[in-house]
Amino acid sequence: MEMEFKHRVALVTGAAQGIGEAVARALAARGAAVAALDANRERLDAVVADLTAGGRRAAAFAADVSDGEAVDGVVDRVERELGPLDILVNVAGILRVGPVLELSDDDWERTFAVNTRGVVNVSRAVARRMTGRASGSIVTVGSNAARTPRVHMAAYAASKAATTMFTKCLGLELARYNIRCNVVSPGSTDTPMQRALWTDGRGARAVIAGSPEAFKLGIPLNRIAETEDVAAAVLFLASDQARHVTMHDLCVDGGATLGA
Ligand SMILES: NC(=O)c1ccc[n+]([C@@H]2O[C@H](COP(=O)([O-])OP(=O)(O)OC[C@H]3O[C@@H](n4cnc5c(N)ncnc54)[C@H](O)[C@@H]3O)[C@@H](O)[C@H]2O)c1
Repeated sequence: MEMEFKHRVALVTGAAQGIGEAVARALAARGAAVAALDANRERLDAVVADLTAGGRRAAAFAADVSDGEAVDGVVDRVERELGPLDILVNVAGILRVGPVLELSDDDWERTFAVNTRGVVNVSRAVARRMTGRASGSIVTVGSNAARTPRVHMAAYAASKAATTMFTKCLGLELARYNIRCNVVSPGSTDTPMQRALWTDGRGARAVIAGSPEAFKLGIPLNRIAETEDVAAAVLFLASDQARHVTMHDLCVDGGATLGA
């Protein structure tokens, strides 16, 4: 496999499972030293143990991205232990679903604390260090729900819309430091978060077919994304191949939102 990220150090949040795990594995397989961050210490340690057993360079950093002080401490440790960060991939996120009239204050606060504030916390801590080196790439995993309204996803969609715009504004401010900031917006992707939504026994088939009651058209490419599909888009934007791309939002949803 091409060692495209050799000599690069990357921080990946949400690396214990799902899309974050796939991104961490893909970067490590291409030579990066990966700092894997997640709130789930047990699963995180298992992923990192598997990577290092396979000869990859990776280290685990257990933390909650919504805790700004903890994030600063982790970023400090990552740079001391692995070296200056070249790449940040914000993947950690949560999904609380329910009608707007029933979502609790806690649902709103926690969703924004993790999906929005968490991205601000980590991006800011990393960007402060990248600016001095005049180099870096930040990729934030948003959602196609940030641009297309979805029933029962108001808190989630709003938090992702905020995160998307934050990442673009950051890209504008950091362009002068040669730091690129981009977004990858997945649609339905086969992960524990997605599977928690499969409650009617039809699994992926219902998602692919769509649902007129929920104003969902289904997925034109006729499949649910695998985590590797999203990781491939992340890696492109993180790499030098995308050296002239910033403030971009790359949708990876099989056409579910018709490119809107
Ligand atoms: N799976 C999908 O269909 C889908 C679609 C669009 C967008 N996304 C987005 O992709 C990202 C990854 O989703 P996934 O499906 O892999 O989810 P997942 O729930 O399977 O994994 C999320 C990971 O983030 C970690 N995490 C959650 N809160 C955290 C916190 N406060 N601090 C640190 N780590 C935390 C979890 O422990 C978990 O390991 C999320 O931002 C999600 O919103 C997913």
